[in-house]
Amino acid sequence: MRLSLRFIVPLLLTIAAFAYGAVPLVDNLTTRWFVRDLDLRASLIANTLHEPLDALIRSGDHRRMLEYFNRITQDERLYAMGFCPTPGDEPLATLALPPEINCSSLDSLVALSGTLISSAAGPLLVSARALAAPEMPEGRLILLQDMSFVERRSEETRKYLFYFFLGLGATVSLLTVVIAQLSWRGWVQGLRALLRGEGLFRPSGKPERAELRPIASDLRVLIHDIEAERRSRDDDQMAWTPDTLRAILHGDLRGQDAIVVSNREPYVHVRQNGAIVVQRPASGLVTAMEPIMRACSGTWIAHGSGSADREVVDRHDRVGVPGAGPAYQIRRIWLSPEQEAGYYYGFANEGLWPLCHIAHVRPTFRTSDWEQYVQVNRLFAQAVAQEAKASDPIVLVQDYHLALLPRMIHEALPAATIITFWHIPWPNPEAFGICPWRHELLDGLLGSTIIGFHTQFHCNNFVDTVDRLLEARADRETFTVTYRGELTAVKRYPISVDWPPAAGLLGRSVEECRRELRARHGLPPGHAIGVGVDRLDYTKGIEERFRAVERLLELQPQWVGKFSFVQVAAPTRSSIEQYQEYEVRVKAMAARINDRFAGKGSPPIILHVEHQEPHQVYAYYRAADLCFVSSLHDGMNLVAKEFVSARDDERGVLILSQFTGAARELPEALIVNPYDADQCAAALHLALSMPVAEQRARIRLMRGLIREFNVYRWAGRMLMDAAGMRRRGRLLERPGTPLRGP
Ligand code: G6P
Repeated sequence: MRLSLRFIVPLLLTIAAFAYGAVPLVDNLTTRWFVRDLDLRASLIANTLHEPLDALIRSGDHRRMLEYFNRITQDERLYAMGFCPTPGDEPLATLALPPEINCSSLDSLVALSGTLISSAAGPLLVSARALAAPEMPEGRLILLQDMSFVERRSEETRKYLFYFFLGLGATVSLLTVVIAQLSWRGWVQGLRALLRGEGLFRPSGKPERAELRPIASDLRVLIHDIEAERRSRDDDQMAWTPDTLRAILHGDLRGQDAIVVSNREPYVHVRQNGAIVVQRPASGLVTAMEPIMRACSGTWIAHGSGSADREVVDRHDRVGVPGAGPAYQIRRIWLSPEQEAGYYYGFANEGLWPLCHIAHVRPTFRTSDWEQYVQVNRLFAQAVAQEAKASDPIVLVQDYHLALLPRMIHEALPAATIITFWHIPWPNPEAFGICPWRHELLDGLLGSTIIGFHTQFHCNNFVDTVDRLLEARADRETFTVTYRGELTAVKRYPISVDWPPAAGLLGRSVEECRRELRARHGLPPGHAIGVGVDRLDYTKGIEERFRAVERLLELQPQWVGKFSFVQVAAPTRSSIEQYQEYEVRVKAMAARINDRFAGKGSPPIILHVEHQEPHQVYAYYRAADLCFVSSLHDGMNLVAKEFVSARDDERGVLILSQFTGAARELPEALIVNPYDADQCAAALHLALSMPVAEQRARIRLMRGLIREFNVYRWAGRMLMDAAGMRRRGRLLERPGTPLRGP
């Protein structure tokens, strides 16, 4: 519509200019030019005829004079002619002379030049010239020239002029349209897009207009930086959701895909009774990273550990998860039994795990395990290089299985932003120093752009360790380490859970969950229930927990037969001797305590050594009166946060070990020392007898904290810091920047 207007309007304007301006002007001019020419011609004729006519006039032979006139007027242009002896005479003229031309009117009609008149024969130019003789001093020659040819010529000129104007109009119109399209609209749209920020980020994938490119790129950088700065300032004002995270990835990090790398995969395909089933492993790391990956998509590289894992991957060892309409890809790494034994069971879980946890289990370091650890880290590094779609990907390296990976990635992809998160505690320098490969591990980790820990205490331990063991500059003000000329930021990012919990986890009401649990275990109505949910790991303090239950029944016998503690313990790392022994000890202890109180109603301890899916675990959380987390040492412990998030009825009490990272964030829990059985028993009693109002007050505060500091904020802050470091890196790379460094 706008296009056709742009064409028609200039065309109409040109035609109007033609009709109302050019035509009358041209008519006027051509008539004037011809009148002047023919009048001159009249003088020429009069001069030429002067002599013969003079003789004829003198002879007074009117007949011969008329014949002469008739002969001359055979010229097609000379229409008529005549002679007036005096102003009072009748003219002696050819027949064609119009009657209105007479001798008396001649002078008034024809002054100096010719006059145009219209007659029945068409337009005529009347000219009069003196043709005096001594006997006729007032004699006049009348010449009438046919002017109809002027009209014909004017018409022709008009026609050509019309074509010319039409052409001109069309050209102008076309030019208008083209210029408008190319220039005006382009500029206006370009600028509008710039103002909206669209053109800058090219969401539709359209290329930028060349002329806007310089402005756009400067503006883009400026807007990004301002927004990123604002976001990091307003971190606590923001609502942290999957969308917030996506916005950071697409805004601050310019649409980069995130590559997550961990040993444990988020979905394990296993064969059970001939069918392939999918399991969600019990792992804090998986619990936290899974919703992040759902929000951000990308690729998660992990060890394919399930018995049916190979059956479901494509030829690139990738599988889309979860199920139909997958949100992201798992890229599986295959390990030989020797690799798994040395890298995972050996170095990671018999060496680093007990090294980092104060649980009084000695670490075991073997050279053969270390060699496998190096080899497997290299396998992961190769996979990262294969999966990276750009030379500067964002790689999120997870946990102690992959301590060498950051350096390896940095060497293969120097522009990559590597965020390493250490999910377990970091010990003090003395404790870490017993590891024979302490330097290599630190060197590997310092290939990261950022290293994250759950607590400031672990950040401090890490910086102390680096300071003590490496030739590095540790800056305690900015919490950065400069090593091999490069900077690594050491930051605290307390991990958390999805908020609100995924749909389906809170589907059944608290009452329903409680009824089902009681029915399943034959517990009477009103029976009090405590829960514990852990991997069957010696760091979790399950023995201490059972001891506390036993102590409660000793100290507060009114709970005998009225209270049962349900422990869900997922088997884990079962090839390791310490874990096998632990399982034996835990089972034996449960059996002993149950025996001790046998015959006095429901057993005090109900132990399920089995893997349970998240929806089953949430049903336990919702059914319970209390949840007891008694870890001897734990980076964060997400069970504590899951329990709080599961209780939308604002009931239930959390008893939490002071040796968990979570204890620093959830002081409204009943904080206990798991080594102090009496204190734990007192906490159990307090929890079981806590008034509803106090339960509500405590859990409300904890829910508020988890709502605010959910897992999206955990990941979002890491990504924002990574974006900030990328910006700073770009700035330092600019020519003329004097210094590199913090
Ligand atoms: C801890 C570690 C995780 C690990 C999880 C389960 O939370 O920090 O990296 O995935 O335990 O252990 P697993 O050995 O079964 O992976």
